[in-house]
Amino acid sequence: MKNILEVRDLQVSYGAIQAIKGIDLHIREGEMVALIGANGAGKTTTLKTLAGLLSPVAGQITFDGKAHAAIKSYDLIRQGLALVPEGRGIFPKLTVYENLEMGAFSRTDGKDAIQADIERMFGIFPRLKERAFQLAGTMSGGEQQMLAISRALMGRPKLLLLDEPSMGLAPIIVQKIFETIVEVVKGGVTLLLVEQNARLALQTCQRAYVIDGGRIALEGQASDLLHNEQVQKAYLGE
Ligand SMILES: Nc1ncnc2c1ncn2[C@@H]1O[C@H](COP(=O)(O)OP(=O)(O)OP(=O)(O)O)[C@@H](O)[C@H]1O
Ligand SMILES: [Mg+2]
Repeated sequence: MKNILEVRDLQVSYGAIQAIKGIDLHIREGEMVALIGANGAGKTTTLKTLAGLLSPVAGQITFDGKAHAAIKSYDLIRQGLALVPEGRGIFPKLTVYENLEMGAFSRTDGKDAIQADIERMFGIFPRLKERAFQLAGTMSGGEQQMLAISRALMGRPKLLLLDEPSMGLAPIIVQKIFETIVEVVKGGVTLLLVEQNARLALQTCQRAYVIDGGRIALEGQASDLLHNEQVQKAYLGE
């Protein structure tokens, strides 16, 4: 399979603070790849840069065969790259239905196709259908996360970037959301998953990168990393 994403020597700074100090990574089409690491390691910074919200100070990103730098940030969604940010980023004063419509803003394939996809999201998350006309901000954390993922999927992404989807949610809801994510990927989306819950991320994804202090410290098959002593000690609490 070809690479949907290639990152070379990526460096990102906040003023004088260099958060990302030269990382390389790649993701093949259809893969599920995890990016794990401690607080402040640089996970969110990496995802925001990939989503065009931050500009790198050095390095190259190639997305779907195109130089990322040549794609305007507002155009990345149209080109197939969607971020579900930390904290979800839904519109709290809009209804569930309106949030889903907003997720399709970049599409040009017409109302019927968009309507069909809203129904598809309601099929994936029946809870959202029950709450279609509820204001998104009044829903539970788990429901909001379901909406955030569905809204991103409404843009028909090729690559979905998820930042901490398990944050603040009860284990049973996390399990349901992760099962759904796996289904969605099987339906033809590629996934880069950032998770503090390293065990869950490694159990869900095929490959993983461990980021530490803005550098890739380890990478490999998720099953190998689950059995890696260093990973177990630092990230799996063993
Ligand atoms: N807006 C900002 N201005 C200055 N420094 C920042 C800013 N955002 C993040 N940083 C710094 O960059 C580094 C990486 O932060 P980042 O948010 O990418 O970490 P993270 O791996 O996502 O952590 P967490 O697991 O806590 O979400 C940290 O040292 C952080 O303090
Ligand atoms: Mg983060």
